[in-house]
Amino acid sequence: MAGTDSSASSRQSSFNSLAKDLELPLEQGCLTIVVLGASGDLAKKKTFPALYHLFEQGFLQSGEVHIVGYARTNLSDDGLRGRIRAYLKGASEEHVSEFLQLIKYVSGSYDSGEGFEKLNKEISDYEMSNNSGSSRRLFYLALPPSVYPSVCKMIRTYCMSPTSRTGWTRVIVEKPFGRDLDSAEELSSQLGELFQEDQLYRIDHYLGKELVQNLIVFREDFGTDGRGGYFDQYGIIRDIIQNHLLQVFCLVAMEKPVSLKPEHIRDEKVKVLQSVNPIKDEEVVLGQYQGYKDDPTVPDDSNTPTFASIVLRVHNERWEGVPFILKAGKALNSRKAEIRVQFKDVPGDIFKCKKQGRNEFVIRLQPSEAMYMKLTVKKPGLEMATEQSELDLSYGMRYQDVKIPEAYERLILDTIRGDQQHFVRRDELKAAWQIFTPLLHNIDAGKLKAVSYKPGSRGPKEADELSEKVGYMQT
Ligand code: NDP
Ligand code: BG6
Repeated sequence: MAGTDSSASSRQSSFNSLAKDLELPLEQGCLTIVVLGASGDLAKKKTFPALYHLFEQGFLQSGEVHIVGYARTNLSDDGLRGRIRAYLKGASEEHVSEFLQLIKYVSGSYDSGEGFEKLNKEISDYEMSNNSGSSRRLFYLALPPSVYPSVCKMIRTYCMSPTSRTGWTRVIVEKPFGRDLDSAEELSSQLGELFQEDQLYRIDHYLGKELVQNLIVFREDFGTDGRGGYFDQYGIIRDIIQNHLLQVFCLVAMEKPVSLKPEHIRDEKVKVLQSVNPIKDEEVVLGQYQGYKDDPTVPDDSNTPTFASIVLRVHNERWEGVPFILKAGKALNSRKAEIRVQFKDVPGDIFKCKKQGRNEFVIRLQPSEAMYMKLTVKKPGLEMATEQSELDLSYGMRYQDVKIPEAYERLILDTIRGDQQHFVRRDELKAAWQIFTPLLHNIDAGKLKAVSYKPGSRGPKEADELSEKVGYMQT
């Protein structure tokens, strides 16, 4: 049976000891995970596969966990199971079958009591039959944000964990959390009236990646394939930079937190966000790849950026004068997410003419997770000449037997354990929108234009020129 082997129990025990360090309560008993929007893209590609992997590793146990998919689409339990199975190719048939038996499907709308009463009955019946006296209820909203307020209201009205049992109710919400400061604050207030901050888990899957630290370059070799309609409403800044890149930026630029406790870490993130200067128009390059508007769901006159390079400057003692370049784009030459920290040249450098390149520390989040240091070293031999070399920690070579978990696995597990460290707090979200809203409004008003770039290229040449202007050297 999945989850009963020794590696599963040793993983469980290492998580238990971390929980102890963070003073998180360890809980057992009946756990229900409800995936709302179970018929959708995110649910089948990310949420259910992540739940499967947690089950396979023993973090979700048969007899304790119950999974319910909820959406409007008319589906049977087996219909949903068949869709999920299609995304678990290559997994052990025995484990998959056992996992699928934990899953039920309830169909209903997002704004009427009828469906949520049915959902509550499904959960309550399982809890009664489980007989543990506990009721832990996790609701994962894999849904468009437009329905978050009504769905949260329904959960609050019909599906809360009963006070007669021990347990909790937690809600995971997906980005985008609004499209600017005002809309994000409005959404936060609506959800805040229904749930306490410690019940809300605003997910940013970049925070779940193994190597997450600061991010300077983020490249995707695919376009907006099939998501043009959604993408055109948001653009690359709202889709990736304001959330994923900014979160990683925070982790690099923040000061050392008082402890590893979630609130201490999030306090430091808020501080560094509040220290970011207003973005200058001349330190922004926007691009749109040629062919983007061929998508029939994208308007012919769209100015939505599919690429952006933005310089952030942090006004504090540590970072004054240091540019942070956040760069992301669709349809570029490669699919990469990395952080590059370039070290200043030594003042009064005596090697001047002979030296090449610059020392640089690179953290590659994906693909092929790695950390490496590019160093200028003496070229071996009798000449006094220098060249660039590397100290290389490639995870694939160093940790050959270790499977790196998917971001969503880690984050769902954190939610079950009540660890909000890797989730975005309300004041953090507000500070993030404060940084980008003036720029976004100028783009929406057509005051800043996106330049065109070729699909499969490095993006607009103006972006490389901006990096060079602010002091970055291509090594
Ligand atoms: P989908 O468009 O696939 O929607 C999910 C489900 O929601 C659908 O199956 C549908 O279920 C229901 N739905 C769709 N549109 C509406 C609507 N207008 N009103 C009410 N219900 C609707 O979304 P995704 O699965 O792609 O994304 C879900 C959330 O996750 C979104 O917030 C998205 O931004 C976020 N996200 C998605 C990523 C991805 O890779 N897909 C990546 C990161 C974040 P039914 O009709 O059966 O009720
Ligand atoms: C999503 C964005 O949040 O993150 C996508 O909506 C983007 O546009 C994706 O492609 C990137 O995530 P990952 O994990 O594939 O790098």
